[in-house]
Amino acid sequence: MIIIKKPEEIAKMREAGKLLAACHKEIAKRIVPGVTTWELDEFADAFVRAHGATHEQKGYHGYPYSICASVNDVVCHGFPKKIPLQEGDIVTIDMVVNLNGWLADSAWSYGVGKLSPEVANLLKTTEESMYKGIAQAVVGNRMGDISHAIQSYAEGKGYSVVRQFIGHGIGQEMHEDPEVPHYGPAGRGLRLKEGMVITVEPMINTGHWEAYVEEDGWTARTRDGGLSAQYEHTIAITKDGPLILTLQD
Ligand code: MF3
Ligand code: CO
Repeated sequence: MIIIKKPEEIAKMREAGKLLAACHKEIAKRIVPGVTTWELDEFADAFVRAHGATHEQKGYHGYPYSICASVNDVVCHGFPKKIPLQEGDIVTIDMVVNLNGWLADSAWSYGVGKLSPEVANLLKTTEESMYKGIAQAVVGNRMGDISHAIQSYAEGKGYSVVRQFIGHGIGQEMHEDPEVPHYGPAGRGLRLKEGMVITVEPMINTGHWEAYVEEDGWTARTRDGGLSAQYEHTIAITKDGPLILTLQD
């Protein structure tokens, strides 16, 4: 069941999204060779608490940390670790902030220090593919229009799109209907309506799209060891077009 949000509810989610965006901007400043994702987790937890909010991931189906931190071939749901990041790494920080019972969800891939052209191009293409998808999130379009815009863009640049993990509706729960696949044909799926709030969060790989989950039950890695990046915004579908609730301005 899709829960349509009223404008005043979207406004509350925008407040959660603003705080999440501010947290990402602070994290971005701290991404340097030698920092650990453990330190970033501690920072993120303290930052949102200082602003009267909490991280929704902690304890979600037993997830043990405030953030997900996914390095290089980790596709998503990586655990923060006391291992220093190295020059040229990719680290994706994924956070879901709960402010006064309303949620926002945004992941961002960061390059550490000086990047190889391969890594820089993967980051750029993944971010662009997210915005191609968001641009299709307009009243009257179908879900497949979002999916197809992402897949055709990423595959056109020679990358693959992860299938096992997809976007979702969000509100007072982290995962609501509808499902938001990042692959599939245009013109299919449900019609997008005013007041839907969804995430668009493509994970894009340099190699094959297939991922597997490690023994810890969470960490998803590319099967072939290729690199993976992810960008995610929470967006509201409004009569004036897609409204990005987690915009970093
Ligand atoms: N942003 C992730 C998602 O969209 C957050 C889930 S991680 C979890 O699904 F640990 F909370 F499950
Ligand atoms: Co999400």
